[in-house]
Amino acid sequence: MNKPLFIALDYDDQEKMWLFLNQLKDKQGLHVKLGMEMFYQYGPEIVRDLSAKGYQIFLDLKLHDIPNTVKRTAHQLAALGVYCTTVHALGGKQMIQAAKEGLIEGTPAGKPVPKLLAVTELTSISEEVLKNEQHCSLSLADEVKSLAHQAQEAGADGIICSPLEVKAMKSEFNNDFMFVTPGIRPKSYQKDDQARVATPAQARENGSTAIVVGRPITQAADPQKAYEEILKDWSKNDAK
Ligand code: C5P
Repeated sequence: MNKPLFIALDYDDQEKMWLFLNQLKDKQGLHVKLGMEMFYQYGPEIVRDLSAKGYQIFLDLKLHDIPNTVKRTAHQLAALGVYCTTVHALGGKQMIQAAKEGLIEGTPAGKPVPKLLAVTELTSISEEVLKNEQHCSLSLADEVKSLAHQAQEAGADGIICSPLEVKAMKSEFNNDFMFVTPGIRPKSYQKDDQARVATPAQARENGSTAIVVGRPITQAADPQKAYEEILKDWSKNDAK
């Protein structure tokens, strides 16, 4: 299975984004993640521009609305030709199913249907918030697992979770179910605001099927070198 490394393009200005991307070699087929900050500012045009240059796009918009609205929105996103996109698993199975239907219906003939990833509990949610604000009686780990199962049953292709959560869940899911994990930090890099981190190699060992890496590459003095080192660590057991 293809195990992508998505570079998170968390910029407030597209000039900065292009400046960064132009420093990288081998742009064709490079996987990038575009979030709400850029999409709400520049709209579908920036997705089309990146796509036209050959980037594989993870459009991270975390949809969460009634099923009909999500289905119609997913239809529009599929027309943009993205590689994958996200919904909140807390929107319910019917909503996830609707998103999947929208993606299938909106994909132009002959093109691959974008993969649908479900965000389980945000990594900013603590056990305390889960209990006292969401009034959930499950532990965080069990709630994440429960949402992941619901997402799979509803037709999602995978989930977004912490690389530290994958190991305990992996065996309960289909082999091709994707575990996409942010919170990746090379050994030599500080944690920033990420609390629970893993190195690329640890994420691979735990069973991540794709990683999302932002600042360790985008803020590096030599982004190409940082990208290559992280890619090497992420792929190091591939040849075995
Ligand atoms: O710079 P850094 O590597 O921390 O960026 C990680 C990316 O993954 C950011 O775009 C962040 O919003 C996203 N993300 C995350 N944790 C989640 C979901 C998404 O860090 N649970």
